[in-house]
Amino acid sequence: MSAILMDGKALSAKVRGQILEETHRLEEQGVRPGLAVILVGEDPASQVYVRNKEKACAECGFYSEKYVLPAESTQEELLGLIEELNQNPRIHGILCQLPLPKHISEEAVIAAIRLEKDVDAFHSSNVGKIMIGDFDFLPCTPAGVMELLDEYQIDPNGKRCVVIGRSNIVGKPMSMLLLHRHGTVTICHSRTENLAEICREADILVAAVGRAHFVTPAMVKPGAVVIDVGMNRENGKLCGDVAPEVAEVAGYFTPVPGGVGPMTITMLMKNTLKAAHLQMK
Ligand code: GUN
Repeated sequence: MSAILMDGKALSAKVRGQILEETHRLEEQGVRPGLAVILVGEDPASQVYVRNKEKACAECGFYSEKYVLPAESTQEELLGLIEELNQNPRIHGILCQLPLPKHISEEAVIAAIRLEKDVDAFHSSNVGKIMIGDFDFLPCTPAGVMELLDEYQIDPNGKRCVVIGRSNIVGKPMSMLLLHRHGTVTICHSRTENLAEICREADILVAAVGRAHFVTPAMVKPGAVVIDVGMNRENGKLCGDVAPEVAEVAGYFTPVPGGVGPMTITMLMKNTLKAAHLQMK
């Protein structure tokens, strides 16, 4: 058996096309969605992500601003920039690329972004809203996974869902979105005993570990949906958390690159569009 590939690149192109149409409608009302992206330092992976976010803004017809601050910038300088952007009417969404240099508190930076402009949905109030199920912004990576599941008519309702990873950005919100859709969710992490056994029970397995080829075929139930959130670099090559041989066992899988990655950025565009709508009111 060979798994069906879940094409995040194709779905992204479709959704970005829909967003562009909506941008044109908004422009007729005098508003162009605007996103500011802040990068502190020179982390090469972050530089790639930021470049891809700028490209996505162009595809969606958005106004965008990019700020690249030196790694030695102080927290006060960064907070000052965020405050300016909070007040700037052309900017509807603010994204500060993580990770930040060690001397800057990510919590303080996230807390400084105006709630209505928090298109990452990282602010504790937005995180709390996700927990309750009453949210304006969905966290981008988990939202991208949910759109992929919907596109391929995979319904988590009643299914065994296993998420490997418990980060604030992916693992925790991913588990919550699957739960909202009535999945039976287990969160696994580095201290989980009998990990392979638990993973083998999953109808939907989401790998967000950050370790190349961590999920092997022995950890996958035949026919399962395997979602790979990994973005690891090995010898300069991008590879996921799931070993390629898993495609022989799984029913559906997301490739890396071209699976979850483009969807994450597309969901950021969706959130920016939503932010522009919210700020028109
Ligand atoms: N670094 C890795 N992923 C993300 C993300 O989704 N948002 C931000 N701001 N930084 C990241």
